[in-house]
Parts: sequence; structure tokens; C-alpha cells
Amino acid sequence: MLPDSFLQELIAKNDIESVVSAYVSLKRRGRNLVGLCPFHGEKTPSFNLYPETSSFYCFGCGAGGDVITFIRRIENLSYMDAVRLLADRAGMAIPEQDRDDAGAKRRMRILEANREAARLFNKFLYLPGGREGLEYYYSRGYTDAIIRRFGLGYAPQSFDFVRDNLRKKGFHDEELVLAWLCARNKSGNGVHDIFRNRVMIPIIDVRGNVIAFGGRVLDDSKPKYLNSGDTMVFKKTNNLFALNFAKQSKQESLILCEGYMDVIALHQAGFTNAVAALGTSFTAEHARLMSRYSDEAILIFDADAAGKKGAQRAINLLRETGMRIRLVSIPDGKDPDEFIKKNGAERFKLLVERAANDVEYQLMELGSRHLLDTSEGKVNYLREAVQLLAGLTDPLERDVYISRLAHDLSVSKEALQERLKYQLERRKKVQQEKQITQVVQRSEATRKVVNAEAAKHLRAANAEESLLGLLLLNPDYFGKIEPILKTEELVTTFNRTLYEKLLQRYRAGAAVELSVLAEEYDPDEMAYITGMLRDSRERGTTLSVDDAVQYARVIKKEHQLLALKEPSALTPEEIQEKLKLMRDMKS
Ligand code: UTP
Ligand code: MN
Repeated sequence: MLPDSFLQELIAKNDIESVVSAYVSLKRRGRNLVGLCPFHGEKTPSFNLYPETSSFYCFGCGAGGDVITFIRRIENLSYMDAVRLLADRAGMAIPEQDRDDAGAKRRMRILEANREAARLFNKFLYLPGGREGLEYYYSRGYTDAIIRRFGLGYAPQSFDFVRDNLRKKGFHDEELVLAWLCARNKSGNGVHDIFRNRVMIPIIDVRGNVIAFGGRVLDDSKPKYLNSGDTMVFKKTNNLFALNFAKQSKQESLILCEGYMDVIALHQAGFTNAVAALGTSFTAEHARLMSRYSDEAILIFDADAAGKKGAQRAINLLRETGMRIRLVSIPDGKDPDEFIKKNGAERFKLLVERAANDVEYQLMELGSRHLLDTSEGKVNYLREAVQLLAGLTDPLERDVYISRLAHDLSVSKEALQERLKYQLERRKKVQQEKQITQVVQRSEATRKVVNAEAAKHLRAANAEESLLGLLLLNPDYFGKIEPILKTEELVTTFNRTLYEKLLQRYRAGAAVELSVLAEEYDPDEMAYITGMLRDSRERGTTLSVDDAVQYARVIKKEHQLLALKEPSALTPEEIQEKLKLMRDMKS
């Protein structure tokens, strides 16, 4: 546990507005700030920042919390690592006793196991037993230099190669299983290697840690690639292969391609800004990660249907981050690896230089699906093209393409502009409607996950949430609430525990605020709690301690009603008393 005084200083020195504005461009709106939510794709801002309570809440996706929760989510870190990052930022030292946090220790062991395994696979490549692996790399044209740079290796056909070597280095079987290097035997006794007879590609994060592996078979057997599953140190939707090198590249852009081997071939050919998603489709996190290191993305996808779909998905996600996008399509349906091998790096460079931007690419794609020499085809194409352009946020950009379309297809610009206006209005309406339903759905979803009992005890949960929100905003209300409302009277377990924690803090004279909760509550729970704050805040500053008392009464009543529903061994007097209570409540 970190001392309150440390956390409060941390929060004070990491003003939420300045921390968040490094990730989100914020605009002032009254006392608060708004921006485009970094946790989900959106075009109209629903991300709200409340400087008064040092908290944030997104009405679009329900993400919310304090500054530590924000860093946890956006940097994908554990609680302690997020605290560390903020402490570094503020030039503060973490209090001594917390350095050996159990989770952090475990993660460190997993990283060490991965590093040892990577070393082992790489060393084995140059031993007689690893000849086959080395030959495979050579056959693909990889040099010793690129093998060394990427730390490539080979896992032999053995069930105990990694296990035995890492045991010798002091690793426990449990750690090897957590690292996704070994799996438990069916019998339940002992473990065995997961990666066997595969060339091994270590996946390294931007801090230089080996966080996972991809392993490829040497022949045509299936599955072609085996990738580490998610572990305490690796989430495949949040990491990009070779970003550790690409971020250091002097290029102004990042090249996004589809496969491990493409990335390696590109780096060998001098394109050290190439990255790839790993055995998963491109995600919003990937897009966000790329946008942190570069302003421009160059997408290289296969020309087949699956590749086009992937490209469209990546375009949409990258657009949300504001990155410029260009697309390279490689002739003859080859991947970059094959193209470079056949035509050389210079030819590939030309392809990249001539790459069309995303709007041009999408218009081209659209054009190829219509018969532009018929009037009908032309009309349909223009309709869809204008619809596409309505999705662009920059009016200048829209105008440039509208002019070009008008010119290229010899129609009047005014007609296209009229159509555009119609599309823009429609889009706006659809988006507004979508946002409204989203707000309701998302906060319901968070509540369902965090406090499942709320659905059964709606009235009680509503009152509890309102009360807790008020108490977090005005801890001095406890003065009136404490004598009225006993902890056990709160109906839902989550809220009861929260109330108890806050009350204990109040009694001890400790801080009652969001920031001291982030350590015990995960980001979902923090979002739920911040939602309570938000609700009381939305209803304005008119809520007073009397409202708090009112909520407390509702909770008490709900609690009593609930107790009534359970017919237990009551004395006749007790039954009389309860009946009277029920009558009172009805009136
Ligand atoms: P590809 O099938 O295009 O393979 O898969 P590739 O990268 O060109 O590989 P080579 O050249 O045949 O060796 C593209 C990416 O999809 C993932 C991998 O990340 C791969 O690099 N993938 C593919 C898997 O995760 N598992 C598979 O079985 C196949
Ligand atoms: Mn390939």
C-alpha cells in the first residue's frame, strides 16, 4: 500500500489536465474540458475531463477514473507501473517498501524467462542441432546481421529443451507456464515446451523487453505460425512487431505490413520503419500506438479480398488518430518480402514514394466497382464517392476532392456540393442518435460487469450510487450520513464495500477521494465509481447534504424490504413490527 500523502502529492504534481492533454487534444467547455476519447474511435467528442475532481469520464465508451487510471489504460500498465510513470514524470521517488510489489516481481520473472529463452533459441541456431533453422533463414535470404539484430532463433523438436535449460537457470515450472513458454502436461504433473521445431521470432516491446514469441514451421505444415498467447506482460492487440526498432528510425512515417517475415525483409532492405500486428487483425490500440511515434502510416496489404478488408479496417482506425495515411499495393499479389527479393529495394522504394493517400485509394477502389462509362454507373459511383467524402472531417480536404471528382467526371461542382451537404447532415443525425444509445448502453454495461447485483436491486443501487457520488464530492456529508446509515444496510456488495472503505477513511481523518481508490480498484471498477461522481455532478451543484440524507433513507427502506422478503424464524412481535413497517412504507 502506498501512503496517502505520497498519492496526494503524486496527483497534485501530475495535474490531470496536463497529463491527459499529452494524449488528447482538449477544448474548454465551461468548467470542464472535452475531447475525442482515446479509448474508442469517435468523431464527436464525448470524453470529459473534470479538473475539480481530477477525473475523466467518456460518455461514449464508459471509460473513466482518475489520472492513474487514465495512465493505466492508455499505456496499458499495471497500477504500480502507472504510479511509477507518473512519479518519474513529477521527479518523485516511490516509497521504499512498495518496490517489491508481488505482481511486478512476477512480471519481471516472466520477462527474464523470455529473455533467457530468446538467448537460448538464438544460440542454438549456430550449434550443430540448429543447422536446419539456420538453413531456413538463409534460404529466405536473411543475413547473419539481421538474424542477430532481431535475435532470431530456432526451437528444436523437443518437449524439454526450454524447460530443462530454464530450470537450470532457476526458473520454476509455474513461471514458464505464465510466460507461455511451457504448458502443463495432461496428467497434471510437470510441463512441456510449447514451441517445437519452429524458427523463433522474439517480440520485443519499446522498452526492449522480450514479451512474446512467434514461431514458424519450416515446411508447409499447419499452423504456419504459433504465437504466444496473452500473458501478464503481453497483449497481442496492444503490441506491434518491430516497433522497438521502428521508433528509432529516422523516417517520418511507419510502414504497416502484414507479416513477421515482411517486416524482417523490409528492415534488411533498409526500411527500418516497418512494423506489423501479430497474428491478429489491426486494432484501435495498434492505431493509437502508431500515432504516438509518427504522423504518417504507409499501409502495405495484400491485393486479395482479405487484404483489402484489412486495409479498410486499418484506414478507418488510423483516420481516427489523425494520422496521414498512404497505401502501397504491390503488383502481382506478392507480399513485400517476395517483391523485394525479386525486384530489389530500389523498386520497392519507388512503390512507397508513389503511394496514393487513403482518400485517393478509396476512390480508386470505389471506381473499380462501377462501370463509369454508363450514366447509371457514374451516378452510383458519385453517390458513394460523396458519401465517402462526407466522412472526412477537414472541409478543405472535402473541397479538394469534390473539385477533382467534378472535373474528372465532368459534372457540376454545385451538384456534388449539394449532395455532400445532404450527406453531412444525415451523418450528423445518425451520429447523435448513436451517441445517445451508446451512453446508456455503455454505462449499463460497466455496471453489469462491476456490480451485477444492481440489476436485481435497481432502486437500492441507484440510491447507493447517488449517495456514494455525493460523499466522494463532499466527504463532510459523512457527518450526517454516518449516524443514519449502517454499512450493512447497503444492498449491493460492491457499493457496501466502497461505502465501508470511504467511511473508514473518513473516520481516520484520511483523504476521501478518487485518487486513493485507484490502487484497489481496476479500471472497470474505477469507471463505475467515476460514473457515480459524474451523475451527482451532472445534476448540478444544487445537491446538498439533505439530498444525501434522502438517498440514505431510500437505501434503508430498500434494505428493510429485502429483509422482509426472507421469511425466517421471526417472533410474533417481530412479525407485527415488520408488518407495521411495511404499512408505513406504503403510505
Ligand atoms: P501470411 O500467411 O501472409 O504469412 O500471414 P507471411 O508473413 O507471408 O509468412 P511467410 O512469408 O509465409 O513465412 C501473415 C501474418 O499472419 C499471422 C502472422 O503474424 C503472419 O506473419 N499468422 C499467419 C499467424 O499468426 N498464424 C498463421 O498460422 C498464419
Ligand atoms: Mn510471406
